[in-house]
Amino acid sequence: MSPVALKGIGFYAPEKILTNADFEKIVDTTDEWITTRTGIKSRHIAHPTQATSDLALEASREALKQANIDPKDLELIVVGTSSSDMLFPSVACLLAEKLGAATPMAFDVAAGCSGFLYSLSVAEQFLKSGMYKNALVLGADIITRFADYSDRATSVLFGDGAGAFVLTNEEQGEEFILDLISGCDPYGTDKLLLPAGGSKLPASHDTVEQRLHFIEMNGKEVFRFAVKISETLIKELLERNHIEIEDIDWFAFHQANIRIIEGAADRLKLSKEKVMISLDEYGNTSSATVPMTIYEYWRKGRLKKGDLMVMIVFGAGLTYSIALVRWPL
Ligand code: ACO
Repeated sequence: MSPVALKGIGFYAPEKILTNADFEKIVDTTDEWITTRTGIKSRHIAHPTQATSDLALEASREALKQANIDPKDLELIVVGTSSSDMLFPSVACLLAEKLGAATPMAFDVAAGCSGFLYSLSVAEQFLKSGMYKNALVLGADIITRFADYSDRATSVLFGDGAGAFVLTNEEQGEEFILDLISGCDPYGTDKLLLPAGGSKLPASHDTVEQRLHFIEMNGKEVFRFAVKISETLIKELLERNHIEIEDIDWFAFHQANIRIIEGAADRLKLSKEKVMISLDEYGNTSSATVPMTIYEYWRKGRLKKGDLMVMIVFGAGLTYSIALVRWPL
């Protein structure tokens, strides 16, 4: 089996920025509350004319350019998203059209905020098996469209964005993903959901009146789950790869809440300098947080070729995923 290598990365955040001061005019909140309870200072919000595939397009173009791959040669597109342009077709197919791709296999992965790592693991299998030679993998979400701006506990958390990775399998390539663990705690399906708009509760006057087209979240339970699963997964990953926590150069956590990240980091006695943070600027961009955060650290020259990195995510489901990777760019 040929190694699966990372060849390009791309990023997109919409232009419009909503600060905590802006939020003080929308809901009954303060910059102080949002900062101390979440770590978020601002978030980028998609323009009304933009859909998730538009954000994905910008990030994809950049990643493909760096990888030197013509969209026409793309063989596989996998998009982790919870905010597809419409129920169907998938963001991946709409993106293929916008990119001018030829006939790639293209589909979305619905794993909440874990969508990017779930997508990465699916794409890796197609490349490892030799079925395809290249893949475009994204985390892309306009999750703010589903945030209830009359609910101060959830609306302040989210932002929009997209991150893209291009992977290839080549005999001479360097293995990017060294290990990956994913799962789902199905007893948490009621902890984080968007109740209406699907086959169970199609859109109706009632669903709109009852505000069922917005995210519902049991914040405390998701918080507890996230801290616990982060600790458990990191320990398992280290153990089965026979490495010590000090051997890891970077931890790219899902950017949901600074207190979740710090809670897990404290339990594991992680050095703060190794923990990547972008939520202060971008908020929780759902499945896009990890690729966007990594891109930002890479762009600023902080990541070095050969660094050992852990990516870790959790989301609606309740899903979770962790990957050990060797940074190649
Ligand atoms: N501004 C001011 N006060 C607020 C706000 C706000 N934006 N939001 C909630 N409050 C109030 C509440 O009304 C409550 O007031 P009360 O005591 O008078 O009833 C008080 O603050 C405490 O509320 P809690 O819900 O207990 O606040 P908590 O400390 O749990 O923080 C939060 C809420 C930030 C949502 C937290 O639970 C959390 O981060 N949970 C993790 C879930 C998460 O991050 N989800 C992100 C999306 S899911 C994902 O990415 C997988």
